[in-house]
Amino acid sequence: VSVPAPRGIRVEVPVQRTAYDVIVRPGVLDELHSFLPPASRYVVITDHHVAPLHGARVLDALRGHGLTADLLDFTAGEANKTRSTWTQLTDRLLGLGAGRDACVIALGGGVVGDLACLVAATYMRGLPVVQVPTTLLAMVDAAVGGKTGVDVEHGKNLVGVFHHPHAVIADPLVLNTLPPQQLRAGLAEAVKHGAILDAAHFDWIHDNAQRLLSLDPEAVSALVTRSVELKGSVVAEDPREHGRRVLLNFGHTVGHALELCSGYTLLHGFAVAAGLRAEARAGELAGITADGTADRVTSLLRACELPLSVPGLDADRVLDGMRMDKKTRAAAQRVVLLAVIGRCARTDDGKWTHALPRHVLRQAVQEVIRDRDNV
Ligand SMILES: NC(=O)c1ccc[n+]([C@@H]2O[C@H](COP(=O)([O-])OP(=O)(O)OC[C@H]3O[C@@H](n4cnc5c(N)ncnc54)[C@H](O)[C@@H]3O)[C@@H](O)[C@H]2O)c1
Ligand SMILES: [Zn+2]
Repeated sequence: VSVPAPRGIRVEVPVQRTAYDVIVRPGVLDELHSFLPPASRYVVITDHHVAPLHGARVLDALRGHGLTADLLDFTAGEANKTRSTWTQLTDRLLGLGAGRDACVIALGGGVVGDLACLVAATYMRGLPVVQVPTTLLAMVDAAVGGKTGVDVEHGKNLVGVFHHPHAVIADPLVLNTLPPQQLRAGLAEAVKHGAILDAAHFDWIHDNAQRLLSLDPEAVSALVTRSVELKGSVVAEDPREHGRRVLLNFGHTVGHALELCSGYTLLHGFAVAAGLRAEARAGELAGITADGTADRVTSLLRACELPLSVPGLDADRVLDGMRMDKKTRAAAQRVVLLAVIGRCARTDDGKWTHALPRHVLRQAVQEVIRDRDNV
């Protein structure tokens, strides 16, 4: 299987009259300095797992190029993606004396990205930010699209702004330190991109699953490149999620509810994997998705060594959990559904989400919370 040469992808955001490059290349982290906007100082924001693994190296490289650079870290984990951590980070930036001519470098997974970009967006009314994603999930998904945010008691990601990065620098080699579970979790989002937008990407992941799991840098580069192209094209069309960007929520209506019911002990990507299966199945049950689609999704998730179900949950609690999804606009549960692998179904009046009766969703959810599926 031939792998396209890694190259820069340009993500256009016409509404904000902006565009930025996403550079995906093994070893590109060593060239980070050449992708930075001019600034009086650079502040690397990261978490305490990534800081010792990659932070010191980035900081040394920047200083080695004569740049003024500092590193701020916070305790890793979704539980710290909060206003409180935002407060600490902005206070520490003030403590450093960072002015409006500083630049933030977000070095980490999606938690770091969401938080550091919110800090950048709000500090002195907005600093440029360069995203350096260090998880597969952040590379294929979180680092592109400009969404920032923190979690609050009412739910996840409920306070934030749109703030697009100056550039995104994705170096597949940094994934060598990532726990294997986190790698698989990221694959679930790439599977989603293929399922909703590109059957060839979906099949390519299937054919290359073992290379991806063993972190073959060329395969990972090709995966990230295509996923970013796909997500970037949707974001360019609909930067603020008034329309087609909602497709990116495929698998997430059920996925978010599973996360909620697990008390957020489940990895997001694992919840999404089960959610992809459930929503593909729900579409089949509703007569909208082609028969056999859910089986293809299941087969690909299995090849990616992702868990296929989340046993031990109660179907009705999961259904109730869906109403908490912040993207729910109406009382009826609306869900993105596939027509076939690679293409989503529209309603007769042109909408990208379909209202599904509770019993259909319930049956589909049942199928992903049974123990015996998890083989
Ligand atoms: N803004 C968006 O569009 C968007 C999209 C999807 C997800 N998200 C957000 O992203 C977050 C999830 O992202 P995530 O899965 O990357 O989680 P994460 O940032 O918590 O990273 C997962 C774990 O891996 C560690 N880690 C990161 N890089 C590492 C590396 N190279 N080596 C070793 N350990 C490493 C982290 O410290 C953390 O413990 C969620 O908060 C979600 O809401 C945002
Ligand atoms: Zn997701």
